[in-house]
Amino acid sequence: MDKLIIKGGKPLFGDAYVSGSKNASLPIMAATLLAEGVYNISNVPVLKDIFTMGELLERLGIENSFSGDTFILNNMDGGGADAPYDLVKKMRASILVLGPLLAKRRKAKVSLPGGCAIGERPVDLHIAALEKMGAEITVNHGYIEASCGRLTGAEINFKTVTVTGTENILMAAALAKGRTVINNAAAEPEISDLAGFLRKMGAEITGDGTSVITIEGTDELSAADYSVMPDRIEAGTLMCAVAGTGGDVRLHNAPLKCMSAVTDALFTAGLAVKEGEDGVLELSSGGELNSADISTKPYPGFPTDMQAQYMAIMTKANGTAVIDENIFENRFMHVAELKRMGADIAVKDGQAVVRGVKELSGAPVMASDLMASAGLVIAALMATNTSEINRVYHLDRGYQEFEKKLRGIGADIKRV
Ligand code: UD1
Repeated sequence: MDKLIIKGGKPLFGDAYVSGSKNASLPIMAATLLAEGVYNISNVPVLKDIFTMGELLERLGIENSFSGDTFILNNMDGGGADAPYDLVKKMRASILVLGPLLAKRRKAKVSLPGGCAIGERPVDLHIAALEKMGAEITVNHGYIEASCGRLTGAEINFKTVTVTGTENILMAAALAKGRTVINNAAAEPEISDLAGFLRKMGAEITGDGTSVITIEGTDELSAADYSVMPDRIEAGTLMCAVAGTGGDVRLHNAPLKCMSAVTDALFTAGLAVKEGEDGVLELSSGGELNSADISTKPYPGFPTDMQAQYMAIMTKANGTAVIDENIFENRFMHVAELKRMGADIAVKDGQAVVRGVKELSGAPVMASDLMASAGLVIAALMATNTSEINRVYHLDRGYQEFEKKLRGIGADIKRV
């Protein structure tokens, strides 16, 4: 099994490039179920999760492959409607095929994703919303089995903000009869990217990027080409790396406009971010860090997907930072590993209190999930000596050539 060996303590200098967004690519790929034809989707990151979604779509009659960074999909409507356990267990986002399958093929059999390291993560809200649109759904033997006539528009009131739930309903409603209104919708930029793609396919959607989205269903959609937005989580992770180690890095393709919560926190922590004329971000830090509290929230709040990386830099900040995790009940798996590197962190009831220490010392550590592994990489870059990060396959699910990018800006990191 691959691991990363990181010798810490080196400031970072040079140019780094942000890849396309994983969490925007996945629903856009699923949306190709809505219409037959050929799609050229550019700026798709080359990642394990993308291949998992590709494999699932292949089983549903959509051939797909990369040509450079363009992902080409050909929906020949094989008529299949099964998303089996062996694929869904690899990636929870497989649930994104449920909405489009029902809308277009009027049936779906999708394995229940189940819990994962960061929490229970139910999909009850996806199911209830599709039922409200006319689907008949049963859950048997670990599978969601659903069928419908043409879905009908409905007023959906999500009791919790759900990103993939909003995306499933957006896709289903695009082909439904009549108007759908999603209240308490997720406003994440990846939702707006999906809406932009669906509009190119012929969908009528307004309000994306706010908490109320209105969709006027259409009879038919058609294949379209699209370019996916850059990955704000990868951009934020690279920013944390520079804040934590110090240095001067020019960050290309970062979606700055949708990153205020992260850039504000990092500014307080000591990272200067200047936008150059060409849109390149000039990141600069002397390596001295200040503590600042954060609280994870749905967009535009501080993203839960940046919590572990931010906690990593707070371990060496002056003072104490209080980090509240409000989205997932078990997203502090990285804490025990950070403590093995010398961090002073106390966790109670979804809150971590991080007291900055003078030094982190390298240690062998274990990644438990995608974002936890990114946090551990950052901590290892900040530590005085060598760390070994095990179970790095988590990182490969969501970060394209991460160690290569870090090496490109001077990090001492290798994969063995
Ligand atoms: C998406 C992101 C993930 C991110 C998360 C929160 C993708 C592929 N993944 O995950 O990276 O961490 O948003 O920003 O885009 N919930 C329910 N019932 C449901 C659905 C959700 O109770 O039917 C709860 C969840 O357990 C969680 C909260 O709602 O506590 C938010 O989860 P949700 O936004 O649905 O996360 P995902 O869409 O799975």
